[in-house]
Amino acid sequence: MEVEHRQKEKRRRRRCVIVGVAVVLLVITVLSLGLGLGLRREKHQIKPVFLSRCEKFSGNNCQKIWDAFQQAYVNQDPCKVPVEAYDPLIAAAPFKSECNRMLFWSKTKDVVHDFTEKKDCFITLEDTLLGSVLDGLTWCGKEGSSDTFTTGCPGWTDCENNPVRSFWNRASAAFAEAACGAVTVMLNGSIATPFHPASIFASIEVKKLNATRAKNLNVVLVTDEHIVANCTNPSLKDLKKELDKGIKYNCEEVPQSQIEACASNPMAPCGTCW
Ligand SMILES: *[C@@H]1O[C@H](CO)[C@@H](O)[C@H](O)[C@H]1NC(C)=O
Ligand SMILES: *[C@@H]1O[C@H](CO)[C@@H](O)[C@H](O)[C@H]1NC(C)=O
Ligand SMILES: *[C@@H]1O[C@H](CO)[C@@H](O)[C@H](O)[C@H]1NC(C)=O
Repeated sequence: MEVEHRQKEKRRRRRCVIVGVAVVLLVITVLSLGLGLGLRREKHQIKPVFLSRCEKFSGNNCQKIWDAFQQAYVNQDPCKVPVEAYDPLIAAAPFKSECNRMLFWSKTKDVVHDFTEKKDCFITLEDTLLGSVLDGLTWCGKEGSSDTFTTGCPGWTDCENNPVRSFWNRASAAFAEAACGAVTVMLNGSIATPFHPASIFASIEVKKLNATRAKNLNVVLVTDEHIVANCTNPSLKDLKKELDKGIKYNCEEVPQSQIEACASNPMAPCGTCW
């Protein structure tokens, strides 16, 4: 009697466990399906992403900035959007001249953004309103349509005047024009040509640094255990030559581990990472 009762109790518990696991699995499936659909829909809808990222910056009319953004490429051939098309957008959300805090980068994106996220010392283009709103996004228009598309758009190198590339070229130029005081650039010492002529930094930003505002350019050449280029690298001599007269040039080789350690140390003041 007692034994039978215990076995019944055991079976009941086992059933309970099985039903419980099944319910949990069902809930997980439904949740992940819902989330998946939600995320997928968000990917195809650039406007809500644009507005929600924009709202993180206070004191801006994000709808007005969205309108200025859209007019650059909507109803246009996506290979015929010139950089000037974004002039009204830049005017709607101009870059502030943050003296001694502006940081440029080329082939060091991950290290740089890890650093700027952890330490409030420098501002990169991707930390500004326009840069952060459009970072990682793809968009284009189509002739005869007032819609924004996020798929089937030309890639970075498919045609020169595509909406994404023209935006980043225009924004980079405006960001560099605003550069003021001591300007910093992180370049990659693990490649043969840290200052590569085809990079946005070399082809656009350096040309826009203006000695009336920018006083110094400090190159931080990020190195790891395989140093390929040091501060005597020929491409850096080119960089020095290209600077607007009056901007003082300086170069320092800094191990990546030192930058990462400093970024993670909340006690380290801004000026002491290199
Ligand atoms: C430098 O470039 C190499 C090769 O592309 C890359 O593996 C490395 O992560 C880069 N270094 C930094 C600091 O980003
Ligand atoms: C710097 O600005 C001045 C005045 O705004 C301008 O005349 C000059 O052409 C600019 N230089 C560069 C290199 O852009
Ligand atoms: C810098 O690199 C050059 C060329 O690779 C090398 O000859 C030179 O010794 C290096 N200088 C220093 C200080 O490491």
